[in-house]
Amino acid sequence: MPTVRAEKLYKVFGRRAREAVRRLEEGAEASELDLPGVTPAVIDASFEVNEGEIFVVMGLSGSGKSTLIRMLNGLLPATSGRVSVDGQDITTMSDRQIREMRQNKMSMVFQHFALFPHRTVLQNAAYGLQIQGLGREERLEKAREALGLVGLNGWEDHVPAQLSGGMRQRVGLARALAADTEVLLMDEAFSALDPLIRREMQDQLLSLQAKLGKTIVFITHDLNEAMRLGDRIAMMRQGRIVQIGTAEEILTHPANDYVAQFVQDVDRTRVLTASSVMNKPAVTIGAGSGPRAALRLMREHQYSALFVVERDGTLAGVITDAAAAEAANQGADTLRGILSQDVAAVGPDTVVSDLFAPSAESVLPLAVLDEDRTLLGVIPRATLLAALGEIGTADPGDAANAKEVAADV
Ligand SMILES: Nc1ncnc2c1ncn2[C@@H]1O[C@H](COP(=O)(O)OP(=O)(O)OP(=O)(O)O)[C@@H](O)[C@H]1O
Ligand SMILES: [Mg+2]
Repeated sequence: MPTVRAEKLYKVFGRRAREAVRRLEEGAEASELDLPGVTPAVIDASFEVNEGEIFVVMGLSGSGKSTLIRMLNGLLPATSGRVSVDGQDITTMSDRQIREMRQNKMSMVFQHFALFPHRTVLQNAAYGLQIQGLGREERLEKAREALGLVGLNGWEDHVPAQLSGGMRQRVGLARALAADTEVLLMDEAFSALDPLIRREMQDQLLSLQAKLGKTIVFITHDLNEAMRLGDRIAMMRQGRIVQIGTAEEILTHPANDYVAQFVQDVDRTRVLTASSVMNKPAVTIGAGSGPRAALRLMREHQYSALFVVERDGTLAGVITDAAAAEAANQGADTLRGILSQDVAAVGPDTVVSDLFAPSAESVLPLAVLDEDRTLLGVIPRATLLAALGEIGTADPGDAANAKEVAADV
């Protein structure tokens, strides 16, 4: 079940907002509206954020990201459409119910997080818990825990002025974590930070997320940040969501020219994964087959080795032509005793940039295995280099050479 859900959500600023929504619903473009003082900030947004995922909303300045996220927690009422949180429709809630929902279910972290300058780091992190009705000791305990999560142990008694920008932003994050809500909304939470500190915060968010499994809506206008953090990314343009997908889907199948242009400079080798460049393991042999069958198959396909699989599709090992020939001479009737385990294996989610080293060290194609060791696919070096060629950085000469080498395998 999705945790946060938006259905045909609109936010139009200005006096004739409803009229604008009606015409947009009828198919008008925002540019055709010609209603003075009317700004369609979010147009027809529908999506679901699943429990435990980082859902990134990405778009240029003014594309409607903040307006969208503020409708998710009821800070802004929608002009039209519905938002539900844990199955509860918030668009019909009273102000009081919405406030309660914000306290118990959703916390928000902003770009410029306002800390109280004269209160300690601990008091700042505990701010907000009072409203939840907790006693003082319990509040401070929760705040202390949250500060520990963001690596600020030992800073509890300092004041914000003694902290760097990155540390202050961590206090903001700690405050949101202390509230212990299921959903975190983060609006450009890292955008004001220096690039290196920003990366550190991204890493920290990912490791926190691995531990805590929150549902996170993360807004950014930085594509690399979106690609690093997002389980899925919603691309916004001029108020509309133009595509929702994984980083990989958006890179490999951009919904339109706008998205394609937007992502053209991304370093694909850090986003595309083994599963998107692998080939089907077209020629494999069962572990129960005999060495002569293996030799025949190798001859037929001009391979010098084969991947050997069990009936359930898991990888048993590799058989080389030399080993098969020797076994055939000795009259062996299955491959089981003569398999080599010298296989370079990678997981389906390994990013392409991490495939080069194992590929270079292995004579055989890389084996792509899932957790159960099921052979999902193979990646010959040529395929890897060809993929890189499509990505646009490989020297074509290398790819051609590699193809000959791999064909030999
Ligand atoms: N309260 C408001 N009244 C009128 N127009 C508004 C209001 N808030 C936002 N807008 C307009 O709505 C559009 C979307 O703004 P929004 O702040 O959601 O964009 P954003 O994607 O968050 O941009 P940024 O990256 O700069 O934060 C903009 O054209 C903005 O001027
Ligand atoms: Mg914004």
